[in-house]
Amino acid sequence: MLWFLLFVLGFIILYQKWRHRYISKIPGPPSWLLVGNTFQFLGSSGDKWHTRRKMLTPAFHFNIIQQFFKCFVDHSEQLVERLQEECTKPYTDIPPLVTQMGQLLSVRIGRPWLFLNCIYQFTAIKKEQNLLINTLHKFSKSVIENRKQSFAESDLYVDSNDEQFGSKKRLAMLDLLLTLKNSGVQISDEGIREEVDTFMFEGHDTTSAGISFALILIANHPNVQEKLAEEIKSVMNGSDRSFLFSDIQQMHYLELVVKECLRLYPSVPSIGRKTDYDIVTSTGYLIPKDTIVGVHIYSLHHNPIFYPNPEKFDPDRFLPENTKGRHPFSYIPFSAGPRNCIGQKFAMVEMKTAIATIIRNFVLLPIDKPVNLTLISHMVLKTSDEMRIKIRKRYKGSELFTYCNI
Ligand code: HEM
Repeated sequence: MLWFLLFVLGFIILYQKWRHRYISKIPGPPSWLLVGNTFQFLGSSGDKWHTRRKMLTPAFHFNIIQQFFKCFVDHSEQLVERLQEECTKPYTDIPPLVTQMGQLLSVRIGRPWLFLNCIYQFTAIKKEQNLLINTLHKFSKSVIENRKQSFAESDLYVDSNDEQFGSKKRLAMLDLLLTLKNSGVQISDEGIREEVDTFMFEGHDTTSAGISFALILIANHPNVQEKLAEEIKSVMNGSDRSFLFSDIQQMHYLELVVKECLRLYPSVPSIGRKTDYDIVTSTGYLIPKDTIVGVHIYSLHHNPIFYPNPEKFDPDRFLPENTKGRHPFSYIPFSAGPRNCIGQKFAMVEMKTAIATIIRNFVLLPIDKPVNLTLISHMVLKTSDEMRIKIRKRYKGSELFTYCNI
């Protein structure tokens, strides 16, 4: 036991020395070790990542997303059905069930000694993590098995024709993986499951957090809500039919709103990277090779140099005339560079469809103010308490915003 404690103590002292020597030279608040891609959290690393990223990129082509659009609409309409019940309640707590997995990872990140598997494997949170992972794996395995059974390759291809990729037949992600495996490409069942897990985690919690923050912001900004409702009405030209992909593409103000929501509340508030070589910053600080660097997206998005009056919710910041001259990396909700979010177009379409469907059917009224929310990061940005709004049915031709009876 003694050697074990000495080892942990030694690790902490060495880490603090290393931190003092290198990272403390970087201006800003003191750094803390971050786990991210380096520790193979959000997917794999190195060659494995590179091969799989290349393999999967075509599955996120715009035509594939378009193929899924009906699915976004159906689910948004189902959500509206469920929200009808909420109209009779005094308030609705928006965020969906918190994924506990993120919480456990956050606990580990804050305690560097738990990075050592020899210690971590004996802890209670590791036990809890194993239970959760088993449940998640069971779910992803059942999705894969179901798809394998209904898999008829010839029906699955989507035609695409664009400048970047030329004319090609494309497959959605899981179909692509199954087809590659059938054609002899080296990917095991375990490999397919790993990719499905990654996409489920990254695709679900991030967009649901984004939609939750968007709804509370919209509820608190009636002028924005009114403009959104007007835009939907004008694009739909008074029709009650379900949205088409082209309708959502025409909702430009909605796009500005979603962008501003992700600026104020980036679903992934920070990311980690390990440097491959020595980097000297423009102000002369050396970041040596193999340093783990935390990129705090939330702080960047709230920097008054790029965003004057940064706490103000102002979708017009993203009008083309207002983004002119702004540093391209001052807005990175989906990260940047080769390891950026592969699902960003998918996420934007999904968020826009869900928000447009909700605003088309309901008037959102404020209860909690965004400024009073206590933010926490469980890998994905969350709040420690409820995020309450009031939902009222939107009747055709009725006043949009009635703040009585809240
Ligand atoms: C609002 C929604 C989303 C946000 C804000 C978001 C943000 C991000 C960020 C910041 C990263 C980089 C992580 C890092 O560098 O450590 C990332 C990576 C990733 N995202 Fe998203 N994401 C969103 C939705 C989605 C969706 C819908 C999918 C899939 C359908 C997805 C799949 C992925 C994958 C697979 C990666 C890892 C990419 C790689 O390592 O090559 N994300 N996301």
